[in-house]
Amino acid sequence: MPMPTGKVLDKYLQDKVRNLGLSYKGAVLTKAQIELGKMLYLDPRISTSYLISCNTCHNLGMAGVDSVSRAVGDGWKPNPHFLNSPTVYNSVFNAVQFWDGRATHLDEQAKGPISNPVEMNADPKVVEAKINSIPGYVKARE
Ligand code: HEC
Repeated sequence: MPMPTGKVLDKYLQDKVRNLGLSYKGAVLTKAQIELGKMLYLDPRISTSYLISCNTCHNLGMAGVDSVSRAVGDGWKPNPHFLNSPTVYNSVFNAVQFWDGRATHLDEQAKGPISNPVEMNADPKVVEAKINSIPGYVKARE
């Protein structure tokens, strides 16, 4: 079979993921959704300080972690529960999320860090308004 490209490649990869029999049973994302997720993940403008992105603590170039014993978030406050940042690599396939396993799936986890006072400390309404005001994001969602 020749190497698939473009839309054929997208379909090929989605079928591959579906057929793996993995624990993740949610929707398979499109390439555009993945690109949008990447933009948001790396964007410190989402945080109230404009300094902290998901990548600050879950650095994708450092195996998805920050290499400090207590995660440091908004206002440079160390995590009050003495927690460090677990890797985000493949976390979509974890049976449970967080060190204490309190969330069963990534969907439940996703909104937490944005508003968490010791992480990005941002009001979700402000985040939404900010994102809708940035032309790059408006275009990415078209
Ligand atoms: C200030 C550092 C910090 C920032 C910023 C941060 N996180 Fe985290 N993250 C943590 C810590 C610490 C934990 C573990 C918390 C716990 O177990 O209660 C965690 C847990 C997680 C987990 C669970 C992984 C697992 O294996 O259990 C995921 C997924 C995750 N974060 C994704 C994100 C995303 C997406 C963002 C951006 C929207 C983000 N984080 C921003 C520190 C951070």
